[in-house]
Amino acid sequence: MKADVIDPSVQVPLAAAAIEAALVMRARFSIEVIERCDSTNSLLLERAQQGAPVGSVVVCEQQEAGRGRRGRAWISAPGDSLTFSLLWRFAPGVPALAGLSLAVGVALARALEDLGASDITLKWPNDILGAGAKLGGILIETFLSGGSHVVVIGVGLNMRRATDVIDQVDAPVGALDQVMTQLPSRNRVLAALLDSLAILFDEFAVSGFKPLRTAWQARNAHADKEVIILAEGMPAATGRCAGVDEEGALLLDTGSGRRRIVSGDVSLRSA
Ligand code: BTN
Repeated sequence: MKADVIDPSVQVPLAAAAIEAALVMRARFSIEVIERCDSTNSLLLERAQQGAPVGSVVVCEQQEAGRGRRGRAWISAPGDSLTFSLLWRFAPGVPALAGLSLAVGVALARALEDLGASDITLKWPNDILGAGAKLGGILIETFLSGGSHVVVIGVGLNMRRATDVIDQVDAPVGALDQVMTQLPSRNRVLAALLDSLAILFDEFAVSGFKPLRTAWQARNAHADKEVIILAEGMPAATGRCAGVDEEGALLLDTGSGRRRIVSGDVSLRSA
């Protein structure tokens, strides 16, 4: 893959042909590159409702209203970010979808590590960290159709730390180029992420999150740390992060016993 390693100052444009050429499981995806849109998740959700096939991928150079978890905005910079959404379906009877976002984090982390990234960790429920700073996020949206779960998985990754993003995001911003000695093109990164996701979905469809729990915990950014959980409308919860259970809920050891947390934002508790 050396030929595809780029000079960090050159922003290779996204191209469907280049993504397809780098994909191992090419037949499982249908790739569309678009110059701009509000949000690839919104676009693909609309298409999913109109019956778009499994494996449809929309990757966008410039999202103008990118969406994050819990109603937040996702800020990205053209050329320096990778923003895409992928459509998948899980048949009726698939194990609970609750752990899917954590499972997706494992697939993305594995792909980035295989590309040579170091110090990739996962922050519950689904942030991707590089050297401790957030470099990627996952937004999963689902609906039921004919008994199947239709799932749109949106991923935003910072390839480089763009000033626009740093200025608008109120938290440390990480990027892939900080944890890789040679940054591959976005086309190559996307192909690796999609291949890893296809493998993971096959496993998830049969066994759910359970067999992926160990892989998630091995990358848990907050393992055994004192943390605080903030969730809308709930009092803050503090305790020691004891990992996740087989459904992907966060386990928090508090002064009054173990608690199971199903939603919220986790951060390190300051001393
Ligand atoms: C988060 O960390 O809050 C999740 C961020 C998810 C961002 C991606 S970018 C591609 C896709 N389209 C969107 O509007 N959001 C997701």
